[in-house]
Amino acid sequence: MKNQNTFVFHIKLVYYLVKSRQFEVAIINFGILVRILCIFQVKDEKSVDKKVIENIENLRAKIRYHDGKYYVENMPEISDYEYDQLIKELEKLESAYPQLITPDSPTQRVSGEPISEFTSIEHRIPMLSIENTYSEEELREFDKRIRRILKNVDQIEYVVELKIDGIAITLWYENGIFMRGATRGNGLIGDEVTSNLRTVKNIPLRFLSIDHRKIPPVIEIRGEIYLPNKEFQRLNQRREKAGEPQFANPRNAAAGSLKLLDPHTTAKRPLRLFAYAFGYYEDSRFTNHIECLEKIKEFGLPVNPHYKLCRDIGEVISYCNSWETKRSGLDYQVDGMVVKVNSLELHDKLGSTSKAPRWIMSYKYNPEEATTKIETIKVQVGKTGTLTPVAELSPVPLSGTTVSRATLHNFDEIERKDIRVGDYVVVQKAGEIIPQVVKVIKEKRTGSVRRFDVPERCPVCGGDVIKEKVFLKCYNPLCTAQAKRRIMYFVSRNAMDIEGFGPAIIEQLVDKKIIEDYADIYSLKFDDLEPLERMGEKSARNLLAAIEKSKSRGLHCLICALGILNVGTHVAEVLSKHFGTLDKLMNASVEELEEIFEIGEITAKSIVDFFSNNHTKNVINKLKAAGVNLNAFRKETQAVSNIADKLFVVTGTLNGYTRKEIEDIIKNLGGKISSSVSGKTDFLIAGESPGSKLEAAKKLGTTILGKMGFEDLIKKT
Ligand code: IVH
Repeated sequence: MKNQNTFVFHIKLVYYLVKSRQFEVAIINFGILVRILCIFQVKDEKSVDKKVIENIENLRAKIRYHDGKYYVENMPEISDYEYDQLIKELEKLESAYPQLITPDSPTQRVSGEPISEFTSIEHRIPMLSIENTYSEEELREFDKRIRRILKNVDQIEYVVELKIDGIAITLWYENGIFMRGATRGNGLIGDEVTSNLRTVKNIPLRFLSIDHRKIPPVIEIRGEIYLPNKEFQRLNQRREKAGEPQFANPRNAAAGSLKLLDPHTTAKRPLRLFAYAFGYYEDSRFTNHIECLEKIKEFGLPVNPHYKLCRDIGEVISYCNSWETKRSGLDYQVDGMVVKVNSLELHDKLGSTSKAPRWIMSYKYNPEEATTKIETIKVQVGKTGTLTPVAELSPVPLSGTTVSRATLHNFDEIERKDIRVGDYVVVQKAGEIIPQVVKVIKEKRTGSVRRFDVPERCPVCGGDVIKEKVFLKCYNPLCTAQAKRRIMYFVSRNAMDIEGFGPAIIEQLVDKKIIEDYADIYSLKFDDLEPLERMGEKSARNLLAAIEKSKSRGLHCLICALGILNVGTHVAEVLSKHFGTLDKLMNASVEELEEIFEIGEITAKSIVDFFSNNHTKNVINKLKAAGVNLNAFRKETQAVSNIADKLFVVTGTLNGYTRKEIEDIIKNLGGKISSSVSGKTDFLIAGESPGSKLEAAKKLGTTILGKMGFEDLIKKT
């Protein structure tokens, strides 16, 4: 009955939309009609008992209700166990009646295969930024500027909110159902990250209540995705154990998690949302911002509870000040306050500059600082032999984490700041994982402090060190500290991505002299690995399989893994694309390299230096002998996806190719090009600013490929 009502409602809606020439929204609603029809059809085919459908719907409604209580209101009414039972019951019913699974079911948060690249989405309304202030005077100036523009307005009400230090996103709901979401990107075009956002537990996949007569068919809600401090610490601990690089701060961790290509991995990172505004909302009847926040809450989205209506700028300032210290007690990062004019009418009157609206201002706090003691100073040797002094501190809480180390950058810096072992220092975190020592508190210095002696030899291999500008370097290619770091880098995710090859294993293998450099990884045998600590038969076999698998990574991964100074993932990709084989890259001259767009003189020189080194030549010969793929095209013969006779539509701009180049590639491989998307289109190649073709392809279920997807496809052919 409910479905029938919805069906009739949508027929009327489509009729009205077509009549009023709102074709785009009409198409969306037509899609919904088709879905409802499919449900009728399915029901007829398998004649699902009405009771089952009711049961499923009731369970979903119950789960949504408890999701709201738990994730949004922070007031759970049932235990985790009871909640899990509800989910299990629903999963059981859905696996018996898979035809009744809908994308907005609470069981469908993690779905979809890993993708090769995100598609770009143009924001219907640009996602502008906010101007920053750092002092009370500037906030008063903001109030004065508004009064100047508005002339005769007596009282201006402001809403003051916490400024959550996370990632701005936008969520698109159609008829109350979450359809897609995107990052802010450059404010005009963002990346579509729908599958990842679906895993965020406090984003409802469907509004709590949907009254079709009261809400427009399309509603856009904007907010900030963040990773709670506790989860950030847990994630970094896990990564440290696995030998993966740590995230600098919760914001970077949230950004990294949101930009993962596999939603299954994102689902393991408990991201959360705070919604703070509507984006697109047709015919909005709201009169002020507070009403918008209340409505967002009513839909079931989480709004940060600490917002306040202030009657004047004085009240705004004292509210902002009151949070400066209080914010450290929260489980998420707050880097300031956001001050918004409450009246929406005044928003319109004030308008925007090209960057930011004039009715909003942020009041930024200074980075948090803490005082602690330097227990000792240790020297680390990096993968290129640079010696870095690191202060070991008495642990102290700072910006949501416990800090026990701080980088001292280089030995000149120790001298310049006159830092001594035993000193009390002020440490600050300005976006980096390893905090920095801001200054020494000289008044607290006692007689027991001692100066740090600059090392004359490498602390690991005892080799000579040479001063290069402000850095000290160990050039011994056999230095085990360098070898270990190079190997760690070689096996890391952006490089050869050898799963399970953690630092503890590398330490043992190098210390026991089983391997000397990363090429030796490929001669490891079961008997070398199995006896290691924290290894076992199964792990040894898995590791050998992972090593074998890594042999066929693309050339760009290998170039990156080699650890050439100034060559990271991006430059590695550029080089791989340009040269196609490692041999060609090895023979390139500085001049030849410099001709490549994006490669400068310094990088060109370090590449040539690297390959002219005898040790490098030796290592590369070992990689060759082991059968590591040294070509840009993958070796393994994957299921060949044939381009021949397939129909392609190309839209938007693809970085690195002209439209003609893409079309030529497709034609050369036997594919056909069409200018518009239809049911016959096999692939849509979508670049930046894809426009309406992307929408059309999505609706038709056409395979959509971004740049990397396209490159993968042509490589396989
Ligand atoms: S309102 C015109 N409210 O801060 C922009 N933004 O530095 C309207 N942010 O891009 C945004 N907390 O991602 C708004 N309570 C809040 C916020 C908030 C954090 C972020 C947002 C924005 C950035 C600007």
